[in-house]
Amino acid sequence: MTSVIAVANQKGGVAKTTTVHTIADALAEQGREILMIDLDPQACLTYAADAQPDDLDVTIHDVFLGRVKADDVLLKREGPDILPSSIDLAGSEIHLLTKTGREFVLKRALADIKDRYDIVFIDCGPSLGILTVNALTAADYVLIPFQAETLSDRGVGQLLETIDDVRHYTNEDLQILGGIATMFDSRTNLGKAVLVDVKETHGLTVIEPPIPRSVRVAEAPGEGVSVLQHARRSRSAQAYVEFAGNLEALL
Ligand SMILES: Nc1ncnc2c1ncn2[C@@H]1O[C@H](COP(=O)(O)OP(=O)(O)OP(=O)(O)O)[C@@H](O)[C@H]1O
Ligand SMILES: [Mg+2]
Repeated sequence: MTSVIAVANQKGGVAKTTTVHTIADALAEQGREILMIDLDPQACLTYAADAQPDDLDVTIHDVFLGRVKADDVLLKREGPDILPSSIDLAGSEIHLLTKTGREFVLKRALADIKDRYDIVFIDCGPSLGILTVNALTAADYVLIPFQAETLSDRGVGQLLETIDDVRHYTNEDLQILGGIATMFDSRTNLGKAVLVDVKETHGLTVIEPPIPRSVRVAEAPGEGVSVLQHARRSRSAQAYVEFAGNLEALL
């Protein structure tokens, strides 16, 4: 059975894209069939995975417009496959506004291809708009990256409310897989306090281990690879590999 995991947090820059890219790589290395979907018009995942959005004839935007099938957009590669995005995807949001069944477009599109994969990761953009709702509607699980640096962060609460709405209206089986603490600084007490706060305030289980902050992670996208290829022995790469194993055990 395929597991579809939406990686979502409307807060920007909490390492959604980095998390998708790195754990997808880690699980592909273990021999799993993995698909990554870039659902952000910024197309950061597409760039990070070394597919140049400007060179692509079709992207997931064309799937949302109903012009092509997901299979026509799929980039098959060594490592995880990817459904790429481009800035055009911003136009999909407007197109979808007037469309009946707009929450279900991605779910329908995936139906043809998802059986080929063990796990599908969807990289959401920093919004709770219709694209993210499409991801949550198509998903079996949500993984919530958060940066453990702000106590009483209201963002996670808002996301959990959206997840409740999605369960109510479009996907009653959606499960929260847990949180992932990113860019973690274990030397400060604040980081640890935020982990406790997230559990107590929101009842969110945080999957171990936290991912340490490291310049190695930030360097990787510039080379079109994840930190696993860029700096395999860094603590952050190893933490992501361990995290990926713990995540898979929960499916
Ligand atoms: N563990 C880490 N250590 C240092 N830098 C990191 C780490 N994880 C991510 N980053 C960097 O932080 C920035 C934001 O990461 P990323 O793009 O993955 O976040 P995002 O949540 O996808 O952002 P957006 O909301 O814009 O989509 C990037 O420059 C990334 O390279
Ligand atoms: Mg991103």
